[in-house]
Amino acid sequence: MDRMKGEDHQVPVYASGSQVLQKLQEKWEFTKQWYPAMYSSVIGGIILDQSMMAIPIDDHMVHRGHGVFDTSTISDGYLYELDSHLDRILTSASKAKIDSPFPRETLRDILIQMTAASKCKNGSIKYWLSAGPGDFLLSPKGCTGPAFYAIVIAAATSRRSQRKEGVKAITTTVPMKHPFFAGMKSVNYLPNALAMMEAEERGAYASVWVDEEGYVAEGPMMNVAFVTVSGELVLPAFDKILSGCTAKRLLALAPKLVEAGLLKSVKAASVSDDEARQCAEMMFLGSGLPLLPIVEWDGKPVGDGQAGKISLALSGLLWDDLESGPDRIPVPYG
Ligand SMILES: Cc1ncc(COP(=O)(O)O)c(C=O)c1O
Repeated sequence: MDRMKGEDHQVPVYASGSQVLQKLQEKWEFTKQWYPAMYSSVIGGIILDQSMMAIPIDDHMVHRGHGVFDTSTISDGYLYELDSHLDRILTSASKAKIDSPFPRETLRDILIQMTAASKCKNGSIKYWLSAGPGDFLLSPKGCTGPAFYAIVIAAATSRRSQRKEGVKAITTTVPMKHPFFAGMKSVNYLPNALAMMEAEERGAYASVWVDEEGYVAEGPMMNVAFVTVSGELVLPAFDKILSGCTAKRLLALAPKLVEAGLLKSVKAASVSDDEARQCAEMMFLGSGLPLLPIVEWDGKPVGDGQAGKISLALSGLLWDDLESGPDRIPVPYG
């Protein structure tokens, strides 16, 4: 990128589209990221040229944060739990008063077709419902209509990694979102980004919010879960936080460990900060992780300071579900 060199800096003016295209192509040449396909309802199709993947600057999602999004994992050529994530983006959109430009089945179809066109077998897709482009005002009244955008983010492999060494967490000082906003996945992730940066500044993997009443909430892009010393798996209830698809899947899978005698019970309930700090095991949960054992919280060891055996067993259940579970859509690559 050109840096301003003082008063004599001449800002280039690109009058023709081909000059801009050349600049965009130069920009993408040096990026490490690979986005093999994008869908845009503004264009009305799938775009394969990375330098052409763009969102209009007058889209209200860009300048007013009036948009919602979600993510799904592509694992060995299958889309994992796409329907749960689609349900959640539509719930988020309804809370944000964004009407989807297409019915649910069409959104689903577009995402599957885009993934097929990308030829990507491992990675993730991200998708957004936006109030749409049209002007720079606050009300979407003058917009041309809601928009749908989606992108494929390629990963090298879906290699199973249980991160047995565990990670560190801190309690963030960044104010928590009001439950009304925390419960929808809107594009307003400034508190989340600041909470993540605070964790990195303090040498941790990620942060955890504890609410004003002293209850544990969630991380900046993940949920948390605890195993008590008496063997109960407890996930903070979803009333003030994002209802995580991974957390919900874990609630459905974990009873297998109760049957196996490894856990006593499984529940979602309020977890006070005091109770949480007495727990034997703690973990982050989220799409793409799917489970990371937390071995240190605010500088103190969690349990014995090692990744717990229940956490690793739960991580195994989630990985099995991702690799061979029932909720996987085969992508028709053709
Ligand atoms: C704030 C927040 N909480 C929790 C999660 C975990 O949700 P999921 O398991 O659906 O990825 C996410 C990730 O999307 C998130 O952004």
